[in-house]
Amino acid sequence: MENMQTPLTKNIRSDRTVATLADYESTGGYQGMRKAITELQPKQVQQWVKDAGLRGRGGAGFNAGLKWSMVPMDADAEQVRYLVANADEMEPGTFKDRWLLEKDPHQLIEGMIIAAYAIQARIGYIFLRGEYHLAANRLETALLEARSKGYLGEHVLNSDFSLEIYLHYSAGRYICGEETALLNALEGKRATPRAKPPFAVVSGLWGKPTVVNNVETLCNVPHILHYGVEWYQSLGRGVDKGSKIFGVSGRVKQPGLWELPMGTPIREIIEDHAGGMRDGYKLRGFLPGGASTDFLLPEHLDILMDYEAVAKAGSRMGTGAIIVLDDKTCPVQMVLNLEQFFAQESCGWCTPCRDGLPWTVTLLKDIICGLGRQEDLDTLTALTHQLGPGNTFCALAPGAMEPLQSALKYFRADFERYIVSEPTLLESF
Ligand SMILES: Cc1cc2nc3c(=O)[nH]c(=O)nc-3n(C[C@H](O)[C@H](O)[C@H](O)COP(=O)(O)O)c2cc1C
Ligand code: SF4
Repeated sequence: MENMQTPLTKNIRSDRTVATLADYESTGGYQGMRKAITELQPKQVQQWVKDAGLRGRGGAGFNAGLKWSMVPMDADAEQVRYLVANADEMEPGTFKDRWLLEKDPHQLIEGMIIAAYAIQARIGYIFLRGEYHLAANRLETALLEARSKGYLGEHVLNSDFSLEIYLHYSAGRYICGEETALLNALEGKRATPRAKPPFAVVSGLWGKPTVVNNVETLCNVPHILHYGVEWYQSLGRGVDKGSKIFGVSGRVKQPGLWELPMGTPIREIIEDHAGGMRDGYKLRGFLPGGASTDFLLPEHLDILMDYEAVAKAGSRMGTGAIIVLDDKTCPVQMVLNLEQFFAQESCGWCTPCRDGLPWTVTLLKDIICGLGRQEDLDTLTALTHQLGPGNTFCALAPGAMEPLQSALKYFRADFERYIVSEPTLLESF
């Protein structure tokens, strides 16, 4: 059982090649699926994943087995159910799913077969970011390979269970990754989020029970089934279980992705794996979980990268994609850059986000151009509340406010410096 510490990436090679079906099977591929379908009942598969403590890797960290168990499956329940792999991945700084899709597509397919079996879904969709052309080609090939082996189609492994998986290309908006907007997009409608409840597990695609899971979440599943719950739990270093693909971008010596135990200290990720800061740059702060999380400071380097520990420090583990802020990059300009992205990607469905994000951008531009006033900082702070959790249809706006609110807390002097100094940057925009 080689590479047991890095189950998700054990087939990933450093060159540009893909793990074929034969490669995948030679390292235990499709054994988890075999065990699930031939030895376990759907509810038992749900229980294994729940007990393993697999939390969703798409950002919110909801227990995957628990989510599956919320799908109504009694005899009198709706019999049509869907599974969707969320491969939209448009969050700035996050590129982990792309790696898994391009390098080892069978892992996702096996995870989807097991998840579909667990909720007894006969149709699965891979909702793929439109720009991921290489991943698309490789997934198409892998789906054909899986079908030719009887892993997909009618009577998988000669069982009563049948499954088709279709590849769907996303239209290319960040909001398409939000699970209910994704469902609208799959139905051919405008990709705006739906009001919740009802939750997708009860009323999702075409009103039928639907589970939406992130690519990395689903890629964990085959290993839980193949190697067992206790083995999976033993991989974590903190309270959370399993391994996780962490990434670092910014001015570090070796930006990249690494599969590490859940709960690896942030210092270890930035200093050992990413090689520390580039010569001439110092670490000023970092967004621990992608663009829509709160900044943390060098004093937080020793906390563990797991959901609980990062939340306790005032941020979120999100997608595990660390974005580093160095001492030569202006935090105000970095935040403006992010807010411009979020404002552009707002779907416009609810007023606080549709109007509040462009207003945030205007205020930040004014400040950077030297036209800012002290009271603009109060307005920005008020906006972080008005666009905060509970005030908008989806989490895009609250997520957008996280880097801003923490920048106002930790880097206030940088904002104020623009306000008190002469306007010198008027030509910048
Ligand atoms: C604006 C926005 C964009 C999102 N984009 C993605 C995405 O690209 N991929 C993803 O897996 N989850 C994304 N999410 C989270 C999903 O809504 C959902 O929580 C996730 O797919 C559930 O999978 P998990 O439980 O396996 O993490 C996004 C959420 C929001 C608010
Ligand atoms: S928060 Fe923004 S992205 Fe989400 S529904 Fe409202 S307008 Fe659309």
